[in-house]
Amino acid sequence: MEFGVWTKGLATLAVDCLVVGVFDEAGLGGEARGVDAACGGRLQRLLGAGDFAGRAGETLLLTDMTGLAASRVLLVGLGTRAQHSRRSWRRAWGSAVTALARTRIASVALALDRPAARELDDYTLGRAVAEVAGASLYRVNDLKTGKKPPPPALKKVLAGPVRKAEAATRGFCHGAAIAAAAAVQRDLANLPANVCTPTYLAEEARALAGRHKSLTARVLDEAAIRREKMGCLLAVSQGSRQPPRFIVLEHRGGKRTQPPVVLVGKGVTFDTGGISLKDPPGMDEMKFDMSGAAAVIACLTLAAELRLPLHVVGLIAAVENMPGGKAVKPGDIATSSAGLTVEILNTDAEGRLILCDALHYARRFRPAAVVDIATLTGACVIALGHHHSGVMGNDQKLVQQLLEAGVRAEDRCWQLPLTEEYAEQLKSNFADFANVGGRDGGAITAATFLAKFTAGLPWAHLDVAGTAYQGGANKGSTGRPTPLLADFLIQRAGR
Ligand code: BES
Ligand code: MN
Ligand code: ZN
Repeated sequence: MEFGVWTKGLATLAVDCLVVGVFDEAGLGGEARGVDAACGGRLQRLLGAGDFAGRAGETLLLTDMTGLAASRVLLVGLGTRAQHSRRSWRRAWGSAVTALARTRIASVALALDRPAARELDDYTLGRAVAEVAGASLYRVNDLKTGKKPPPPALKKVLAGPVRKAEAATRGFCHGAAIAAAAAVQRDLANLPANVCTPTYLAEEARALAGRHKSLTARVLDEAAIRREKMGCLLAVSQGSRQPPRFIVLEHRGGKRTQPPVVLVGKGVTFDTGGISLKDPPGMDEMKFDMSGAAAVIACLTLAAELRLPLHVVGLIAAVENMPGGKAVKPGDIATSSAGLTVEILNTDAEGRLILCDALHYARRFRPAAVVDIATLTGACVIALGHHHSGVMGNDQKLVQQLLEAGVRAEDRCWQLPLTEEYAEQLKSNFADFANVGGRDGGAITAATFLAKFTAGLPWAHLDVAGTAYQGGANKGSTGRPTPLLADFLIQRAGR
């Protein structure tokens, strides 16, 4: 996809289609009025007849336009002017792209009214144009036999009006990279678990490193994982026929001495719950339990693509959680690589078990920041629903940076408290602590468990159980929190 800015009058632009906005109640947007004048008032007549209300998400394609160099106009509802925001702008553009994808339109000039500049400056506009276009054109890589629908024709988008073309262009570049990275996460997470195994994830990481000069991949097999004494990770993995993998994916952009940002991903390629077996309804969705790992691979792709002057390390603990004959049992005690013992009271609380060994591994990098990403708890979904990811950590500055990155990227997270009282719930009679702390505050007790392994590290945890994928009719990976993490990395790189 090609992105650019338009500068001269919309009516004279030789593109296939003009995309203009209509406000609910307030009528034609600013740019739409100029277009209306050029085409002899056709748009105003249509609104007058009550055929288009301008409701958010509404679109109408007009063909055979006269008086314009473009033969088509796509009207897009912006909702009410008072509620116009960065979010509603992105939604409007998203519905426009969805409508365009059903046509043969290959090039558009986009002139949707922007909210206040502080909501959407030229850089943010450029980024939103490219990111939303990419996200809206994403198609699941399905295994349906039969004829595939033709790929969308849309190839070229000109945005405007823009004051600083250079800022918008930088936005296009970042937005396209974010969309591509989110698609990497979505493609991986949407794969069935019989394809996407720990070994498959490791091969993907290796292949990715082969394509980018700044990236290196190291894969620890089961024997190497044993040498690292990752007893908790191995306890989860032992019930499966699929061998575990521990993946170290490294992007070297900044100076050699720069302490890295370490991203740690939960890569449970399927979570049956183990001996503490899950209920059958919806269990297929547990193929998405490697979304954190997929986000890490996505973010390293982005760091390499944008050549970010940063040192980024991705750590992925990849396992399958199965109830095989050798499976770990409730009450079994495992010893983590940090040397702490854990009584595994519930084998379905496996994410924290693999993450505690991965987080301990992060120490050797003397990191500037560690962020783990995990579909960790159903309790987080109960607490926050599907709109915000949960964030907790031991370093408020880092948590704040993630909160702000989420706002900028329209991929928000919300902080839950992580105070010492919750540690009480993890007490065990037989080991240093238990892996579960009861139902109450489940997202927090899970993070409290991880905090035991991150003392002295600047660390934050993203629980994306409610945001990384959707169920229902549109079942599939959302690509979250890759946009949030991408923004976080871009900010850190000072780009
Ligand atoms: N992968 C699940 C968490 C999850 C639940 C993600 C729902 C997405 C949607 C995790 O491994 C898990 O099973 N957690 C348990 C923890 C409990 C046993 C303390 C849970 O949330 O029920
Ligand atoms: Mn589980
Ligand atoms: Zn899980």
